[in-house]
Amino acid sequence: MELIIKKASVQMLDQIMRVENSSFSDPWSRGAFLHLFSNPIYRFYVCHVGTAFSGYIIGMLLPPEAEVINLAVDIPFRRAGVASALLERLIFEAEESGCHSFYLEVRRSNMAAIELYKKHGFMTLGTRKKYYRCPVEDALIMARLKEGQSQAASHESKPS
Ligand SMILES: CC(C)(COP(=O)(O)OP(=O)(O)OC[C@H]1O[C@@H](n2cnc3c(N)ncnc32)[C@H](O)[C@@H]1OP(=O)(O)O)[C@@H](O)C(=O)NCCC(=O)NCCS
Repeated sequence: MELIIKKASVQMLDQIMRVENSSFSDPWSRGAFLHLFSNPIYRFYVCHVGTAFSGYIIGMLLPPEAEVINLAVDIPFRRAGVASALLERLIFEAEESGCHSFYLEVRRSNMAAIELYKKHGFMTLGTRKKYYRCPVEDALIMARLKEGQSQAASHESKPS
């Protein structure tokens, strides 16, 4: 089935909240999503599989850097390339806007997301201790950097 990526709209908030609440133990509020629509630094895309709402991604663009701040796929549509399509669209749009380094945080135990990000060129830069609540857990800081930057980052991460 065809994956269709579109800009998110306020009218999609019910579907977005349904997926958010079923995907995270500490979900964002409706107000947190609403706030994004009025601020141009955010890019917010949704994916439909045919006519079915299947997921969303949000990026914050601060050229030359961008951060992936939320990504979720509805459970029945997982493992069908939805997150990959959303991530690729966000990266494309961010690069068009002059962003060439991408950062994100992910729960240390979230192997599905970590594998997804690795597949899309992200590497682990470090950790943030007890970054998440409900339950408390460390975050991995992952980044997708330009060629020269990746070498610098891998040198930095080696013990001296
Ligand atoms: C993480 C998540 C967004 C992945 O979405 P998805 O649409 O299923 O991902 P894709 O189908 O694009 O998967 C791409 C690759 O990611 C990896 N991956 C995805 N799900 C995986 C899983 N459950 N286990 C291991 N690897 C996984 C695989 O490498 C996969 O490629 P493959 O299917 O060819 O093996 C989805 O599981 C989700 O919404 N989880 C809950 C919310 C969440 O954790 N968001 C991320 C917060 S940082």
